[in-house]
Amino acid sequence: MLPDARIHRLLNLLMDHPTIVLSGTKMAAELGVPRSTLRGWIVRLREVGVDLKGVPATGYQLARLPDVLTPGQIRGSGSLGHRVHHYFKIGSTMDEANRLALEGEPHGTLVIAEEQTAGRGRLGRAWHSERGAGLYFSLILRPALPAAAAPLLTLATGIAVATGIAEVTDLETDIRWPNDVLVLGKKCSGMLLEMTAEPERIRFVIVGIGVNVNQSAMPKELQDEATSLRLGVGRAVSRLDLLAALLRSLERAYARLTEAGGRAGLVNEFEGRSSFARGRRVSVEENGTRVTGSTAGLDDSGYLLLKRDDSGALEPIYTGQIRPL
Ligand code: BTN
Repeated sequence: MLPDARIHRLLNLLMDHPTIVLSGTKMAAELGVPRSTLRGWIVRLREVGVDLKGVPATGYQLARLPDVLTPGQIRGSGSLGHRVHHYFKIGSTMDEANRLALEGEPHGTLVIAEEQTAGRGRLGRAWHSERGAGLYFSLILRPALPAAAAPLLTLATGIAVATGIAEVTDLETDIRWPNDVLVLGKKCSGMLLEMTAEPERIRFVIVGIGVNVNQSAMPKELQDEATSLRLGVGRAVSRLDLLAALLRSLERAYARLTEAGGRAGLVNEFEGRSSFARGRRVSVEENGTRVTGSTAGLDDSGYLLLKRDDSGALEPIYTGQIRPL
């Protein structure tokens, strides 16, 4: 699938001339498409929240600068987000990023969509991806790390996302192991890491991040567990500003994985910022099995330690869904 490059050109045209009404005929000619195609693209832009005034028999004008995540608008940070593949609609950014990584796309490439029709979450769940409301993106990382560092990469991602969200919204964030970000006790962001590796070296990791940003209500079946930043702060949040903050904090967090003492620092910081890390009564569910116990911090690899109720043993948790009891 090709990125929607010509729709990006249309948006750039409109944004380059925000104060004038642009003729539909001229824009269609400039983009090399019939007027009917242009009208279809205008519909798609409006669907993702671009506020376009149509002036009868004349053309179109932007009513305000849009919060659309097109390559020209995204501010990368350090090594992340300088190459951008933006889609108005896609199945899952994970699959597209994986395809691009296999084709050789470099470290830091960002794949982002306004809407996903098959957004994926951890443990085989779906990720609700309402059009234009959230951030749905995947980053291609090619870190010089052994595969054993994957759990720490997961923790670093959670810390970075919590930091970026707190910076932009001033909301207090909590992190539920391994990396759900919660505000006001409900999940506003989730992350999925898929790794392609040989034992001694990671070939690439696709880091998928979903943030509920401007949903004014969550679907009924998710309301008890999930929320959006808008519901938390009571106003709309700029997805572009949030994305820029996330890319900055991800860059900083990933740098810590290769610094002296950086990994221990990440584990300590996670413990300090997660109300779930120590002394919390929880259940852990995976593949239909459920154990209960009390959390007892993280081990050096980044796994959550659980003192099990049934056996009394202290065991690392490698995966699963943590819920408070
Ligand atoms: C979870 O909490 O279960 C992880 C959710 C990850 C969702 C993101 S949205 C962007 C990327 N594309 C996907 O299909 N999933 C991840």
